[in-house]
Amino acid sequence: MQELARRDYADVVVVDIKEGLPEGKALDINQAGAVLGYEPNVTGSTSYEPTAGSEVVVVTAGLPRQPGMSRDDLVTTNEKIVGSVTEQVVAQSPDAVLIVVSNPLDAMCHVAKKVSGFPKERVFGQAGILDSARFQAFIAWETGASVKDVQAVVLGGHGDQMVSVVSATTVGGVPLTKLVSAERIAEMVERTAKGGGEVVELLGTSAWYAPGAASAQMVDAIMLDEKRVLPCTAYLEGEYGIDGLYMGVPAKLGAQGIEAIIELDLTDDEQAALEASANAVREVVGVLGS
Ligand code: LAC
Repeated sequence: MQELARRDYADVVVVDIKEGLPEGKALDINQAGAVLGYEPNVTGSTSYEPTAGSEVVVVTAGLPRQPGMSRDDLVTTNEKIVGSVTEQVVAQSPDAVLIVVSNPLDAMCHVAKKVSGFPKERVFGQAGILDSARFQAFIAWETGASVKDVQAVVLGGHGDQMVSVVSATTVGGVPLTKLVSAERIAEMVERTAKGGGEVVELLGTSAWYAPGAASAQMVDAIMLDEKRVLPCTAYLEGEYGIDGLYMGVPAKLGAQGIEAIIELDLTDDEQAALEASANAVREVVGVLGS
């Protein structure tokens, strides 16, 4: 939320169920603005009323992972939490764009879509920017290049079967496959797929900074109508040969939410990996109550 406050283009409301926590965070973030030079109104509340009329709502509610847990272990508990949060959010802000961050991400997007009744353009998830950021960081360290010049895209479900699209990965325009051995690429792809778990093992809870930065980038694209093409967890209806499922794909984000889904030319192996990832997501979605 401080990421968003620092942008200085919108007021921010922080909601949490723990009395004192959102109010305290809001106060602290407001006061940091005196040093850092931002001044939107940051409000903290345990009630949803101050969120009324929000343009964008980022849903992070739910239990975070603990060491040894997969994202999917959270499905039943977080289905209830995300369902209840979504209901309260949409009662206040019927025209909002919803960005889901709660895990298991793909399944929680299904919950938010169903409970909100919003069109698919206005309900989607943040995962691909984070997963791509991890891959980009590993590639920058491996090649000694600036991370700013690493282009990478990670698609599929936000789980261990996510798909790093190596064929679309470049460093300063040069294909990664020309710079790094296939063996090292495979290791970086593996580390990316387990990237969230690596942080959980170290911290004892979920990553914080990179997911926050990734979510803020999506909010920027919507609030500023940027038309950025960013990997988003979008509801697919036939794109990439997948129907009726939330999955990570490149999407054009603007004021209307998801304005287009971009279909990359995948190699046969990448397409097969995407289908395997879709099957893994379908299994988790199948656990949701109806
Ligand atoms: C991660 C969690 C937030 O990937 O899903 O870090």
